[in-house]
Amino acid sequence: MDYELNIDWQTFMESHWQKRPLLIKGGFRNFRDTISPDELAGLAMEDEIDSRIVTRFSGKWDVRHGPFQEFDGLGEKDWSILVQAVDHWHFPSAALMKPFRCLSDWRMDDLMISYSVPGGGVGPHLDQYDVFIIQGQGRRRWRVGEKIPMKQHAPHPDLLQVDPFDAIIDDEMVPGDILYIPPGFPHEGYAIEESLNYSVGFRAPNARELFSGFADYVIANELGSYRYSDPDLAFRDNPALIQQGELTKLHGMMQDLLDQPDVFRKWFGEFISQSRHELDLAPPEPAYSPDEIQELLSQGESLFRLNGLRVLRVGDTCFVNGEALKTPHIEAADVLCQYDEVTAEMLGVAFSDPEFVTLLTVLINNGYWYFDD
Ligand code: SIN
Ligand code: CO
Repeated sequence: MDYELNIDWQTFMESHWQKRPLLIKGGFRNFRDTISPDELAGLAMEDEIDSRIVTRFSGKWDVRHGPFQEFDGLGEKDWSILVQAVDHWHFPSAALMKPFRCLSDWRMDDLMISYSVPGGGVGPHLDQYDVFIIQGQGRRRWRVGEKIPMKQHAPHPDLLQVDPFDAIIDDEMVPGDILYIPPGFPHEGYAIEESLNYSVGFRAPNARELFSGFADYVIANELGSYRYSDPDLAFRDNPALIQQGELTKLHGMMQDLLDQPDVFRKWFGEFISQSRHELDLAPPEPAYSPDEIQELLSQGESLFRLNGLRVLRVGDTCFVNGEALKTPHIEAADVLCQYDEVTAEMLGVAFSDPEFVTLLTVLINNGYWYFDD
């Protein structure tokens, strides 16, 4: 099913994105759930899928992590089950992410789905990322507070919360309503009825993650092998003092690496196209040959991109799951970046280049793209 958003993006970008929370009543008209609570529970039983159950029984918060074997004894009140990156594992749910692609693929992260029984929620908390919370089945009361400095505390080691806050948004959300929350605004949701909530999350790296990722790249590619040297070393009065000129030179050595645009672009493409969540990879058995790929596409078959795979373009290079695509066919590579479904026609002249078809074959045999058979 195609989901169409009822959002005035222009106004949203100007007044809300990264600025103010917004409740969009009827953000998805005639909303239909993509998944049932039973199916969601089934996903929470899988090893590769990140899930948790949050309970608040007799006023005490508790968190348990999946995979779960059974869900007995939870009762009818005060618990939620939350499953991360459902878009990677459940095809119909991935469709919910698509209408948000206009905000840019690289900033988008995953689709978290929660199922809550009455009273269920994770308590008042802050998130570091932008999130659109879509109300599915049931009604849930959502409150959002002003972004003010707030101390976080942990009623359970795996649960960060904030103190009660005054609400600037307080609403009973019904199916199809969407709540946008920028980073740092406290919020909480409590189910009134059995509820499904879909959270389309965004990511934004902090400088620490960038430095750490860049350092990994420098090491893996053996960059920056030049060493500090000081042929002009002079005697000094204070042998313990590192001189300002020396610090400047050291700083420059590090800065030089960052200041190479090609290095920066290649590193960032690799870094940002890596998925933070496991992919549902199922490489074809037996593997395809380039001839078979050529034939299937010539017959009019479409290639589909694995949901959750990050395919991004930086300058003239396209990156797939942490690796640059080595091809002179930038337009065809860009088609792979932009579209979930690709045909021979869309690939243009690249389709008649055996080298490009070989590259495509590798991608398909990795399980990144597939034919819908
Ligand atoms: C939930 O669905 O209960 C949690 C969503 C959120 O607060 O980010
Ligand atoms: Co949250």
